[in-house]
Amino acid sequence: MADTDSIPETKDFHLDKPQTADIFPLKGCHNLDWGMKNRLAHIFSPKSGRTVMLAVDHGYFMGPTSGLERIDVTINPLLAYADTLMCTRGILRSVTPATFNKGVVLRASGGPSILKELSDEQIAVSMEDAIRLNVAAVAVQVFVGGEFESRSIHNMTQLVDAGNRFGVPVLGVTAVGKELARDAKYMRLATRICAELGATYVKTYFVSEGFETVAASCPVPIVIAGGKKMPEAEALNMAYQAVDQGAAGVDMGRNIFQSDAPTAMIQAVRKVVHENMPPKEAYEYYRSLKAGS
Ligand code: R5P
Repeated sequence: MADTDSIPETKDFHLDKPQTADIFPLKGCHNLDWGMKNRLAHIFSPKSGRTVMLAVDHGYFMGPTSGLERIDVTINPLLAYADTLMCTRGILRSVTPATFNKGVVLRASGGPSILKELSDEQIAVSMEDAIRLNVAAVAVQVFVGGEFESRSIHNMTQLVDAGNRFGVPVLGVTAVGKELARDAKYMRLATRICAELGATYVKTYFVSEGFETVAASCPVPIVIAGGKKMPEAEALNMAYQAVDQGAAGVDMGRNIFQSDAPTAMIQAVRKVVHENMPPKEAYEYYRSLKAGS
């Protein structure tokens, strides 16, 4: 039992100071509950308000794609430079060190492989298991315009309801089908639908014309996927253009882990995202790190 004999009388109430009321820095997230905001703070840097998510969830429909054959060998050394890891629960439990204490965004939809109709996804993780894994958010694919559009949106709204119950953010991932135009008009439609139906934040693709209108018309944070591997200078330029035009960061996979020098590349991406380093300078930074490795 605590010794209560010598407790000094309280007297310093700082009556001259109003209680602080911190403004939560993420776009459209100020009305969320504390637990939800705390989880988001494990994804987005409180300092820059942005994130470098390292996306390695491709295996859930592509199998062991190039660069992800041995995640323990190729990806674990990159974790020190990521703000967040986006992966499946299989990879999390089998090869990700439990000492990784930044945010994990868990892939929570799946079903078809690349051999089938991709939009035919179902929810693939219960919220109970996501919480057991202590994740910062769950991610669900939304196929606006796809064959199974309504079902994929229903997958998202079911996860949003479960996430709201337990304080877990939901990342709505706008998936682009081969037959759909990847232009600003489509991205505005897909991202806005995700946000309107409850996604805490949204992942989309960068478009070279009008991306600022995509970011402006989405009331919650947007991150961009990297997409197919391109030369490092181009990927850094795309990341710069995206954050400059309103993205809150990147969810980048192949342009990091398929790079000639993944450790150098992720560090250069960080410079762009968190410090607004211009792309030419970031590419030189990448080259110098690569030469020294
Ligand atoms: C795709 O559906 C996966 O969810 C990836 O996480 C996403 O595409 C980002 O990876 P990448 O930068 O390779 O496109």
